[in-house]
Amino acid sequence: MKDLTPNRDSLDPIEIASVDEIRSLQRARMKWSVRHAYDNVPMYRERFDAAGVHPDDLQTLDDLAKFPFTHKDDLRANYPFGLFAVPREQIVRLHASSGTTGKPTVVGYTQNDIDMWSDMVARSMRASGTRPGDVAHIAYGYGLFTGGLGAHYGAERLGCTVVPVSGGMTERQVTLIEDFKPKTIMVTPSYMLNILEQYQKASIDPRGSSLEVGIFGAEPWTNAMRAEVEDAFDMHAVDIYGLSEVLGPGVANECVESKDGLHIWEDHFYPEVIDPETGAVLPDGELGELVFTTITKEGLPMIRYRTRDLTRLLPGTARSMRRMEKITGRSDDMIILRGVNIFPTQIEEQVLAIPELAPYFQITLSRDGRMDAMAVHVEAAPGSESDAAREAASGLLTKKIKDVVGVSTQVLVGEPGTVERSQGKARRVVDDRPKE
Ligand code: DLL
Repeated sequence: MKDLTPNRDSLDPIEIASVDEIRSLQRARMKWSVRHAYDNVPMYRERFDAAGVHPDDLQTLDDLAKFPFTHKDDLRANYPFGLFAVPREQIVRLHASSGTTGKPTVVGYTQNDIDMWSDMVARSMRASGTRPGDVAHIAYGYGLFTGGLGAHYGAERLGCTVVPVSGGMTERQVTLIEDFKPKTIMVTPSYMLNILEQYQKASIDPRGSSLEVGIFGAEPWTNAMRAEVEDAFDMHAVDIYGLSEVLGPGVANECVESKDGLHIWEDHFYPEVIDPETGAVLPDGELGELVFTTITKEGLPMIRYRTRDLTRLLPGTARSMRRMEKITGRSDDMIILRGVNIFPTQIEEQVLAIPELAPYFQITLSRDGRMDAMAVHVEAAPGSESDAAREAASGLLTKKIKDVVGVSTQVLVGEPGTVERSQGKARRVVDDRPKE
């Protein structure tokens, strides 16, 4: 793989400013944002008043802990535009979650917000190793999902030749990569595996492709998956994080030269990690729930938004801004099986450690009498389809999950192609337990 470390002169000065300088900028911007929310969004005014706090009480960054949290349900309760802090006419773009359960959550951006978002994705791409003039293939979904358009505007801002493919039609993805020769691909890690499979079906060597960088996010993925994809394509695999309520892609990104967690773009987003049970702010380094406060956003300011994502904050390395560790999972996706907490990423690590298995898996939860049961569906890697090979792989995965994760599971090793393929965010858990 090529060394793609960006030239220091090409970075935004704040990326490598002193920590003091960053904190002082955050303090000034946070004061503005908390006041903007209070003055313009009835929910924030009511919440702050009820909690007995006022924007004037925010003098230091630590004072933020006095303010109440915001939750996803608050967006639903104020559907569609109730949390916007500017007149609707000043909102130039809407995005929304798919809303599989209940009402979707709607987010809105002013022109300044779109500009900031484009800057943050451009910064994230540069950190990933992309350069102005590179061809960038975007296979995140376009539409109400923030992935496609968020990546698109950032890639244009950086000065790339953008290929807005969106998700799906995997054969065509391969054709376009082979013909247009992008250096960068932006896509969910699980969909990248589909693209890899399509290369194999077409008997094209993925290591011979033009790709040098993959910017993967929108779902949890492990370092084991990084190794798998980097080796398969002979390219760098870098992690991008974000969420619609706070921005979309581009809240935090790894640096290609260190790949040691994601630097949070702290000049626009102030992170905290809290104990999800008590709400207490945890010191940097401790694992808990990530909470964000936007400090420059106009259309939809978010004060102490609880992401449900679990991680820890770490000091800066390749940049001065703090890092968040690669996300273990969302508290919503945590499976509690007979008292043991399990994240799908733990299963991913074990599946990828067995060469006779393909890198696809899905977990099914069911109820057997009064006990919950978990089954892991995987499939044989091409060349390991024989009954004996599948049985051996099944025994090995069962043992690894028992030894490392600590639970007994049923492992089903199917023929190649039997596990559901992701078209965007993978569905890792199918819950067949009766609803209470
Ligand atoms: O997934 C935004 C995005 C698009 C990020 C493209 C990166 C690339 P939402 O649909 O609102 O927004 O989902 C946000 O996805 O709270 C996390 O649980 C998860 N997520 C996003 N990026 C990562 C990542 C987009 N790099 C939710 N690692 C977040 C782990 C991620 N989980």
